Amino acid sequence: MIREEESRAAYIEWLKQCLMGTMYEEERPVPTPAELAGCAARQSAARQKFSSWLARPGGVTPPILEKKPRELWLLLRAMRRQRAAQTMTVRSGVDNVHYCLTEVLEGGVPGDVMEAGVWKGGLTILIQGILKAWGVNDRRVWVADSFAGLPEPDPETDLEDAVTHYLLGGVDHLRISQAEVRSAFEHFDLLDDQVCFLPGWFRDTLPAAPVERLALLRVDGDWHDSTRDCLRFLYPKLAVGGYMIIDDYGLPLGCRRAVDEYRLENRIREPLQWVNMQTVFWRREE
Ligand SMILES: C[S@@+](CC[C@H](N)C(=O)[O-])C[C@H]1O[C@@H](n2cnc3c(N)ncnc32)[C@H](O)[C@@H]1O
Repeated sequence: MIREEESRAAYIEWLKQCLMGTMYEEERPVPTPAELAGCAARQSAARQKFSSWLARPGGVTPPILEKKPRELWLLLRAMRRQRAAQTMTVRSGVDNVHYCLTEVLEGGVPGDVMEAGVWKGGLTILIQGILKAWGVNDRRVWVADSFAGLPEPDPETDLEDAVTHYLLGGVDHLRISQAEVRSAFEHFDLLDDQVCFLPGWFRDTLPAAPVERLALLRVDGDWHDSTRDCLRFLYPKLAVGGYMIIDDYGLPLGCRRAVDEYRLENRIREPLQWVNMQTVFWRREE
């Protein structure tokens, strides 16, 4: 029994390290002068493009425009698809998914597991790996994404999102195809009928998604509208005792406003628990 638990823990740890790319850590990165100039030029183009919104009285300049070019370069680099990692989530966020899923399994909370906003699919691969390691075959893993990158936000709705989207043009708006994600599942020998893909924009796919109940929902869609759509269509399906994880709550993006609005409108009183400076979660109590 102990050997079985040890080998399960070792497998899950190996999977986490592969998916996070920590097995292939690079040396301290240094941008070239041309790359730095490119970042500065992109910021100044963004200032130009959004000048009429930035000039509005009382308007706040999105922090991403105030970043030094090197900071922007580091941000974009961290997101580049060439990175070895299958997830851009840091270790504490990865461990949080493991923790919530373990609680759900040990507590017998009914329902499937979903991540909305998967990029290369790393966290959904981890979830499927954990389910397999536990011998769980009756919960589906929903993998929801446009597989076409982030949608273009309307600056009227959220200027921070719109400016950030513009600057993320340098990383192709995080576009990763469904075929790439499928092949990553295959690479880890974790693709089977339990894994269900929901390709398309959340506003189109989530309302009619054949998902009955969720035990764990992780939302990582960055923008206000993406987060709002996920909460609106999926939170009512989260089982009592299930876990809600919001990846981007601590970032200077519209996500936080969407979460605060939804929680207020729906009188959600469970306190937010911080995983790190970016991510929060709560356990549904009612
Ligand atoms: C930051 S990435 C997700 C990172 C991923 N969870 C990880 O751990 O690496 C955000 C993802 O959300 C997706 N996305 C954002 N808004 C969306 C929307 N409205 N509909 C569909 N996909 C969306 C993007 O395509 C992108 O893959």
